[in-house]
Amino acid sequence: MTQDEMKKASAVKALDFIENDTIVGVGTGSTVNHFIDALATIKHNINGAVSSSEESTKRLQAHGIEVFDLNSINTLDVYVDGADEITKHMSMIKGGGAALTREKIVAAVAKKFICIADDSKQVKVLGNFPLPVEVIPMARSYVARELVKLGGDPVYRQGVVTDNGNVILDVHNMSIVDPKALEDSINSIVGVVTNGLFAQRGADILVLGSAQGVDIIK
Ligand code: A5P
Repeated sequence: MTQDEMKKASAVKALDFIENDTIVGVGTGSTVNHFIDALATIKHNINGAVSSSEESTKRLQAHGIEVFDLNSINTLDVYVDGADEITKHMSMIKGGGAALTREKIVAAVAKKFICIADDSKQVKVLGNFPLPVEVIPMARSYVARELVKLGGDPVYRQGVVTDNGNVILDVHNMSIVDPKALEDSINSIVGVVTNGLFAQRGADILVLGSAQGVDIIK
Protein backbone atom coordinates (compact mmCIF):
# COMPACT_ATOMS: atom_id res chain seq x y z
CA MET A 1 0.00 0.00 0.00
CA THR A 2 1.31 3.49 -0.83
CA GLN A 3 1.22 6.30 1.73
CA ASP A 4 -1.61 7.92 -0.23
CA GLU A 5 -3.62 4.67 -0.17
CA MET A 6 -3.17 4.53 3.63
CA LYS A 7 -4.37 8.15 3.90
CA LYS A 8 -7.40 7.29 1.77
CA ALA A 9 -8.23 4.16 3.79
CA SER A 10 -8.11 6.19 7.01
CA ALA A 11 -10.25 8.98 5.49
CA VAL A 12 -12.93 6.57 4.25
CA LYS A 13 -13.05 4.82 7.67
CA ALA A 14 -13.75 8.19 9.34
CA LEU A 15 -17.21 8.16 7.71
CA ASP A 16 -18.17 5.71 10.49
CA PHE A 17 -18.05 8.66 12.92
CA ILE A 18 -20.43 10.87 10.93
CA GLU A 19 -24.01 10.94 12.20
CA ASN A 20 -26.96 11.64 9.90
CA ASP A 21 -28.43 15.17 9.86
CA THR A 22 -25.33 16.83 11.34
CA ILE A 23 -22.91 19.51 10.17
CA VAL A 24 -19.38 18.13 9.84
CA GLY A 25 -16.20 20.04 10.74
CA VAL A 26 -13.66 19.58 7.96
CA GLY A 27 -9.89 20.13 8.16
CA THR A 28 -7.32 20.69 5.44
CA GLY A 29 -4.69 18.70 3.57
CA SER A 30 -4.20 15.69 1.31
CA THR A 31 -5.74 13.21 3.79
CA VAL A 32 -8.73 15.49 4.30
CA ASN A 33 -9.13 15.79 0.52
CA HIS A 34 -9.80 12.03 0.51
CA PHE A 35 -12.24 12.54 3.39
CA ILE A 36 -14.11 15.27 1.48
CA ASP A 37 -14.41 12.98 -1.55
CA ALA A 38 -15.73 10.20 0.72
CA LEU A 39 -18.12 12.62 2.45
CA ALA A 40 -19.59 13.46 -0.96
CA THR A 41 -20.87 9.88 -1.21
CA ILE A 42 -23.08 10.47 1.85
CA LYS A 43 -23.83 14.16 1.23
CA HIS A 44 -27.59 13.61 1.20
CA ASN A 45 -27.42 12.25 4.78
CA ILE A 46 -25.63 15.28 6.28
CA ASN A 47 -26.70 18.89 6.68
CA GLY A 48 -23.43 20.39 5.40
CA ALA A 49 -19.96 21.30 6.62
CA VAL A 50 -17.87 23.91 8.38
CA SER A 51 -14.49 24.34 6.73
CA SER A 52 -11.01 25.21 8.02
CA SER A 53 -9.62 26.69 4.79
CA GLU A 54 -10.45 28.22 1.43
CA GLU A 55 -8.97 25.10 -0.21
CA SER A 56 -11.32 22.71 1.62
CA THR A 57 -14.27 25.06 1.09
CA LYS A 58 -13.72 24.94 -2.68
CA ARG A 59 -13.51 21.15 -2.70
CA LEU A 60 -16.61 20.76 -0.53
CA GLN A 61 -18.60 23.16 -2.71
CA ALA A 62 -17.40 21.45 -5.90
CA HIS A 63 -19.04 18.29 -4.53
CA GLY A 64 -22.26 20.20 -3.81
CA ILE A 65 -21.80 20.15 -0.03
CA GLU A 66 -23.07 23.33 1.63
CA VAL A 67 -20.42 25.16 3.69
CA PHE A 68 -21.63 27.11 6.73
CA ASP A 69 -19.98 30.06 8.48
CA LEU A 70 -18.82 28.88 11.92
CA ASN A 71 -20.61 31.87 13.47
CA SER A 72 -23.94 30.63 12.14
CA ILE A 73 -23.93 27.35 14.06
CA ASN A 74 -24.22 26.64 17.78
CA THR A 75 -22.73 23.19 18.09
CA LEU A 76 -20.46 20.93 16.12
CA ASP A 77 -20.29 17.21 16.98
CA VAL A 78 -17.27 16.16 15.00
CA TYR A 79 -14.16 17.69 13.42
CA VAL A 80 -12.12 15.52 11.03
CA ASP A 81 -8.57 16.56 10.17
CA GLY A 82 -5.09 15.24 9.43
CA ALA A 83 -1.82 15.82 11.27
CA ASP A 84 1.85 16.24 10.47
CA GLU A 85 2.83 14.37 13.66
CA ILE A 86 0.82 12.71 16.43
CA THR A 87 1.91 11.07 19.71
CA LYS A 88 0.26 8.30 21.72
CA HIS A 89 -1.02 11.07 24.02
CA MET A 90 -2.89 12.49 20.99
CA SER A 91 -0.85 15.71 20.88
CA MET A 92 -0.18 16.87 17.35
CA ILE A 93 1.83 19.17 15.15
CA LYS A 94 -0.36 20.61 12.40
CA GLY A 95 -0.08 23.44 9.90
CA GLY A 96 2.04 21.93 7.16
CA GLY A 97 -0.61 23.32 4.82
CA ALA A 98 -0.65 26.72 6.60
CA ALA A 99 -4.27 26.33 7.75
CA LEU A 100 -3.47 25.89 11.47
CA THR A 101 -5.38 28.86 12.90
CA ARG A 102 -8.73 28.09 11.32
CA GLU A 103 -8.14 24.40 12.07
CA LYS A 104 -7.58 25.21 15.73
CA ILE A 105 -10.71 27.36 15.87
CA VAL A 106 -12.99 24.70 14.35
CA ALA A 107 -11.36 22.02 16.54
CA ALA A 108 -12.06 24.14 19.63
CA VAL A 109 -15.76 24.24 18.83
CA ALA A 110 -16.12 20.54 18.02
CA LYS A 111 -17.09 17.99 20.66
CA LYS A 112 -14.86 15.32 19.06
CA PHE A 113 -11.62 15.63 17.08
CA ILE A 114 -11.10 12.67 14.75
CA CYS A 115 -7.54 12.61 13.42
CA ILE A 116 -7.04 10.76 10.13
CA ALA A 117 -3.49 9.81 9.19
CA ASP A 118 -1.15 7.23 7.76
CA ASP A 119 1.25 5.57 10.17
CA SER A 120 4.25 7.70 9.12
CA LYS A 121 2.69 10.46 11.25
CA GLN A 122 2.97 8.56 14.53
CA VAL A 123 5.97 9.72 16.60
CA LYS A 124 7.28 9.26 20.13
CA VAL A 125 8.26 12.91 20.57
CA LEU A 126 6.97 15.86 18.52
CA GLY A 127 9.38 18.16 16.72
CA ASN A 128 11.04 16.36 13.87
CA PHE A 129 8.47 18.08 11.64
CA PRO A 130 9.17 21.85 11.81
CA LEU A 131 6.56 23.54 14.01
CA PRO A 132 4.49 26.10 12.03
CA VAL A 133 3.72 29.41 13.75
CA GLU A 134 1.27 31.89 12.16
CA VAL A 135 2.47 35.46 12.68
CA ILE A 136 1.15 38.97 11.98
CA PRO A 137 3.47 40.15 9.14
CA MET A 138 4.93 43.22 10.93
CA ALA A 139 5.92 41.05 13.92
CA ARG A 140 7.83 38.45 11.89
CA SER A 141 11.41 39.38 12.88
CA TYR A 142 10.53 40.04 16.52
CA VAL A 143 8.71 36.71 16.84
CA ALA A 144 11.60 34.92 15.14
CA ARG A 145 14.04 36.34 17.73
CA GLU A 146 11.75 35.23 20.58
CA LEU A 147 11.49 31.72 19.09
CA VAL A 148 15.30 31.51 19.02
CA LYS A 149 15.25 32.31 22.78
CA LEU A 150 12.94 29.29 23.23
CA GLY A 151 15.58 27.09 21.58
CA GLY A 152 14.14 26.89 18.06
CA ASP A 153 15.46 27.72 14.64
CA PRO A 154 12.67 29.62 12.82
CA VAL A 155 12.56 29.73 9.02
CA TYR A 156 10.25 32.12 7.14
CA ARG A 157 7.99 30.14 4.77
CA GLN A 158 8.68 32.24 1.66
CA GLY A 159 5.78 33.09 -0.62
CA VAL A 160 3.07 31.76 1.70
CA VAL A 161 0.24 33.99 2.92
CA THR A 162 -2.37 32.32 5.12
CA ASP A 163 -6.14 32.56 4.55
CA ASN A 164 -6.04 35.20 7.31
CA GLY A 165 -3.43 37.35 5.51
CA ASN A 166 -0.54 36.39 7.79
CA VAL A 167 2.84 34.67 7.38
CA ILE A 168 4.29 31.39 8.67
CA LEU A 169 7.53 30.72 10.55
CA ASP A 170 8.53 27.04 10.60
CA VAL A 171 10.50 26.28 13.76
CA HIS A 172 13.18 23.63 13.27
CA ASN A 173 15.25 21.67 15.77
CA MET A 174 12.82 21.60 18.67
CA SER A 175 12.45 18.43 20.69
CA ILE A 176 9.04 19.01 22.22
CA VAL A 177 8.86 17.12 25.51
CA ASP A 178 6.10 19.27 27.06
CA PRO A 179 3.80 20.21 24.17
CA LYS A 180 1.12 21.87 26.34
CA ALA A 181 3.65 24.21 27.98
CA LEU A 182 5.33 25.07 24.68
CA GLU A 183 1.97 25.71 23.01
CA ASP A 184 1.22 28.27 25.73
CA SER A 185 4.69 29.87 25.67
CA ILE A 186 4.67 30.43 21.91
CA ASN A 187 1.10 31.72 21.92
CA SER A 188 2.05 34.31 24.53
CA ILE A 189 4.60 35.98 22.21
CA VAL A 190 3.07 39.24 20.97
CA GLY A 191 2.43 39.01 17.22
CA VAL A 192 1.80 35.24 17.20
CA VAL A 193 -1.69 34.35 16.00
CA THR A 194 -1.31 30.71 16.97
CA ASN A 195 1.09 27.82 16.64
CA GLY A 196 0.70 24.33 15.19
CA LEU A 197 0.86 22.48 18.51
CA PHE A 198 -2.51 20.89 19.18
CA ALA A 199 -1.87 19.69 22.73
CA GLN A 200 -4.29 21.71 24.88
CA ARG A 201 -6.93 20.38 22.53
CA GLY A 202 -5.52 17.17 21.06
CA ALA A 203 -7.31 14.47 19.11
CA ASP A 204 -9.96 12.27 20.75
CA ILE A 205 -9.75 9.46 18.22
CA LEU A 206 -6.97 8.52 15.79
CA VAL A 207 -7.98 6.64 12.64
CA LEU A 208 -4.63 5.28 11.54
CA GLY A 209 -3.99 3.74 8.11
CA SER A 210 -1.11 1.29 7.78
CA ALA A 211 -0.08 -1.53 5.46
CA GLN A 212 -1.99 -3.90 7.79
CA GLY A 213 -5.29 -1.96 7.60
CA VAL A 214 -6.97 0.78 9.59
CA ASP A 215 -6.79 0.98 13.41
CA ILE A 216 -9.04 3.05 15.63
CA ILE A 217 -7.04 4.40 18.58
CA LYS A 218 -8.82 6.15 21.47
C1 A5P B 1 -2.91 21.74 7.22
O1 A5P B 1 -2.54 23.01 7.62
C2 A5P B 1 -2.36 20.71 8.13
O2 A5P B 1 -2.61 20.89 9.47
C3 A5P B 1 -2.71 19.30 7.70
O3 A5P B 1 -3.78 18.79 8.42
C4 A5P B 1 -1.52 18.46 7.93
O4 A5P B 1 -0.42 19.13 7.34
C5 A5P B 1 -1.67 17.06 7.34
O5 A5P B 1 -1.60 17.13 5.97
P1 A5P B 1 -1.66 15.88 5.03
O6 A5P B 1 -2.97 15.22 5.25
O7 A5P B 1 -1.55 16.48 3.64
O8 A5P B 1 -0.52 14.99 5.35
